[in-house]
Amino acid sequence: MFPKSTLRCMKCNREYGSEEILYSCPNCGSLLEVIIDTPTTSLEQMSKRPLGVWRYLEFLPAGEGTEIVSLEEGGTPLYKCDRLGKWAGLSKLYVKFEGANPTGSFKDRGMTLGVTKAKSLGSKAVACASTGNTSASLAAYAAKSGLTCYVILPSGKVAMGKLAQALMHGAKVISVKGNFDEALKLVMELSTKMGIYLLNSINPWRLEGQKTLAFETIDQLGHAPALLAVPMGNCGNVSAIWKGYNEFKDSGLTDSLPRMYGVQAEGASPVVNMLRAGAEKLAPVLNPETVATAIRIGNPVNWPKAARAIRESDGLSETVSDEEIIGAQRMLASLEGIGIEPASAASIAGVKKAVENGKIDRDTEAVCVCTGHLLKDPEEAIKVCGKPVEVPADFKVISGLLTN
Ligand code: F0G
Repeated sequence: MFPKSTLRCMKCNREYGSEEILYSCPNCGSLLEVIIDTPTTSLEQMSKRPLGVWRYLEFLPAGEGTEIVSLEEGGTPLYKCDRLGKWAGLSKLYVKFEGANPTGSFKDRGMTLGVTKAKSLGSKAVACASTGNTSASLAAYAAKSGLTCYVILPSGKVAMGKLAQALMHGAKVISVKGNFDEALKLVMELSTKMGIYLLNSINPWRLEGQKTLAFETIDQLGHAPALLAVPMGNCGNVSAIWKGYNEFKDSGLTDSLPRMYGVQAEGASPVVNMLRAGAEKLAPVLNPETVATAIRIGNPVNWPKAARAIRESDGLSETVSDEEIIGAQRMLASLEGIGIEPASAASIAGVKKAVENGKIDRDTEAVCVCTGHLLKDPEEAIKVCGKPVEVPADFKVISGLLTN
């Protein structure tokens, strides 16, 4: 049922066994990716299973005999957003609402695969650095599977909802006085030296779960969208989703591929800067800053994969300001009833900007990936909306406030 798989270096092409615990190529230090044997199946055959990550078993290299660690992730709604589309200038705008995952973000797609892999390798402990969502998700899947979980967070820069989740699910949470990039460097060293299984997106097995978002959009739309917009932080997701579309194409399950549209916050946009400059190497942003704390990342480890996804797909990249992010977040919430966290709104702000700049047509069928739930960051929501008025418990006073 599960496909056979190997690890391959994306630069020197050396291959390694799927049972080896590697986060980069021992030969040249570059990123590794999972290569699976191309499955022979059909959408109809797979549709006998419920919509969600594990519908696509034939594409998921979990390993025979492995017990899957699942919280029933994926299967998230794809909303057609006509009112928001009018605002953004698009006639066919969809939102893939990843906030509907068990821990409220797309990370669950990766963690079901990643923690299953950790168990099958016999690991007793897992770790990650995180801007918040990865830690919330890993903590939950570690709890479900009885693994010890360590998370390292940039102090003071993780939204309250995410911190609450990591703590409640029983992770050992360590706040470091530094940013995400520094936390990631530390956890990479700690996990390698201490034999703890690392589940940041540098771990290519995690991305195998995240690629299922591509499969679901094809199942839900009946075809691949023309444009797939996604916020970029550490840049695992954009590359995972592109990999998913390509695997469906290789299996004959789609003829077309979307253009991938990677969107970063203005204050944390090393990949967009690089693509704009036509450069071949990333210049890290040393002090990244944005209201979208989830993507407050200056030195994304997966930049080579992201750059490849955007270039190969004849895609686009763009930056959006904090004002544009907050504006898009508020519009989606008030026009469509969909509540997302700031980082997720980068994809919406990005498509609006691309229409305005004439980079995409008004009739482009666009799917915006909205990566995390509004309740992840309640403090930001209250800050931008303002606190409610407080009045005496008096009918006259209150009725006077209701304007209809
Ligand atoms: N949106 C949200 C809500 C996120 O939490 C993240 C990443 C992204 C987008 C960007 O995804 O890294 O694959 O490009 N959050 C990570 C974390 C870094 O630690 O939770 P990416």
